[in-house]
Amino acid sequence: MPSTTRRFTILVAAAAFAAMSAFLVWAFLQAGTLGMYRWGYRTPVLALCAAGIAPLVVALASIALMRGKAYTIVSMMSIAVSILSLLVAIGVSAYVFSNAYGPVASPARPTLVDPARGFPLRRAGDGSPTLRVALSSDPHYGREASNAEARSAILRLSQAEHEAGRLDAFFDLGDTTEMGMEAEDWKDAIEGITRDAPTLPFVALLGNHDALIGGRARWRAAFAAGSGPGGAPAGGLSASSWRMDSGPVHFIALDLLWGPEGFGKRERAWLARQLEEIPAEDFIVVMSHCFFYSSGYIDEGTGKAWYDHEEMLREVAPLIAGKADLVVSGHNHYMEWLEADGTAWAVAGAFGGKPDPVPSYRSPRSVWFSQGVFGRLVLELRPEGLSCEFQDQAGKPLFQKTLPRR
Ligand SMILES: [Fe+2]
Ligand SMILES: [Fe+2]
Repeated sequence: MPSTTRRFTILVAAAAFAAMSAFLVWAFLQAGTLGMYRWGYRTPVLALCAAGIAPLVVALASIALMRGKAYTIVSMMSIAVSILSLLVAIGVSAYVFSNAYGPVASPARPTLVDPARGFPLRRAGDGSPTLRVALSSDPHYGREASNAEARSAILRLSQAEHEAGRLDAFFDLGDTTEMGMEAEDWKDAIEGITRDAPTLPFVALLGNHDALIGGRARWRAAFAAGSGPGGAPAGGLSASSWRMDSGPVHFIALDLLWGPEGFGKRERAWLARQLEEIPAEDFIVVMSHCFFYSSGYIDEGTGKAWYDHEEMLREVAPLIAGKADLVVSGHNHYMEWLEADGTAWAVAGAFGGKPDPVPSYRSPRSVWFSQGVFGRLVLELRPEGLSCEFQDQAGKPLFQKTLPRR
């Protein structure tokens, strides 16, 4: 076999390998992809790896044969496998990039709050400074199984309260969309939020679904409100990880999507600094998409435990426990109040995403739990402390606890 054929066999195999490697390296540099791989969607990633490596293996086999009829057949096979692999790499890249960076999803934007500026405190009837905010997570716009009626009801109730001067802001803790790189899902989300809550000050965190795959660019286009690079607020780590000071209540948002993947030395040092700076008598509310303590279930498809998150509890919780008054998360589609290690832990994943199954595991830290009910968690600064009340989508109280001043 002429050496030009040999060179072509090697060249096309190397090109296929390089194209697939470049795509996979890019994908794993994106927020949330490592978590996605570890927590669920392993098969498509492994299939792409195999498709990238196969051309090299077959090309090496053909070279090892050196000559003869077998060499010709294997060489031809090698070229075919390489071209197929190259087409898969180009096709997958084109699909992902054209979705993640395609046309603008919607020209509208919710009424966003720059976390570096926050929102002003109001005066209560007795003249004391007060604030009242609502938090909920996981509306999953763009998914058929999500409850559009419930998420609209939650937003409309919050908008009405804001107009009546009784609600200062709404925090959406992520998984706003089902598939973060899809423009359609973002269009659905942005139009839904701006229709139901046009003037409600809106603050969003990044969820694992929002980040799928390379979805962070679309999340930023919808929600980033800071004045720094990539929409990060002054002093913040990113557009979705920052500190917001509202008088004696301090909100800290963390980028924790599937777990502590990506939460490294820099993030730990930043968090420690924020916690140190805040006066001990003030209230600290930490927010993240991924939960720490939670009741839950074993995912049938992956065998993974979606409860008391081992890695979050081992790697991140010790930095917060006993320092934050309250940690609020979503990710599990429940509402739950848990108490552990001198901190209250709330799960508020009830913003319309399909409810998770009835738990097979009840966290020993659980104090109150609700499955299958949509709603929000309302925090209110009162003279006696920080009132935390779970409500259903109509505003009916479900569970209330006041965290006292330390
Ligand atoms: Fe979710
Ligand atoms: Fe999630």
